[in-house]
Amino acid sequence: MEADHKRLDGLLDAAFADSEHIDMASYDQFRQGLLKHIGLEEKILLPLAQKLRGGEPLPMAAKLRLDHGALASLLVPAPTKSIARAIRTILSSHNPLEEGPNGVYEQCKNLAGEEAARVLEELVSAKDVPVATRLDTPKVMQGVRRALARAGFDETMLDDE
Ligand SMILES: [Fe+2]
Ligand SMILES: [Fe+2]
Repeated sequence: MEADHKRLDGLLDAAFADSEHIDMASYDQFRQGLLKHIGLEEKILLPLAQKLRGGEPLPMAAKLRLDHGALASLLVPAPTKSIARAIRTILSSHNPLEEGPNGVYEQCKNLAGEEAARVLEELVSAKDVPVATRLDTPKVMQGVRRALARAGFDETMLDDE
């Protein structure tokens, strides 16, 4: 999953490598990949950790879910530079919560114990998720701003293009 963070960072960089033009093939791969990645965390990892903790969610779970909500909302409208910047801002504080010796992935691995290999297999073999169509309306952008604010991010980072 940490390697997937790097792969996704690379796709977002590739999409915005040329300042004049967004590479939509890379962006679509990024969008599809990030939605799948978030789905694996929300549908497999976090529920598993909660179950193994006797029904008690990981302390970080609520914050991760809010970040995921903000990220998913940013993937609904067509990409712009300010949307890419907001995604990068969130990922740069979100991914460290999951990575490393004290991160959520390590916590899940420790909780899973001997089951860890089977869980990893489940994550690796998961199918692609169907991705919702892109939508550009003022209402969508209001939703993005609300999701950013709920997760504790400054929604005005979307303002300067
Ligand atoms: Fe995550
Ligand atoms: Fe992640």
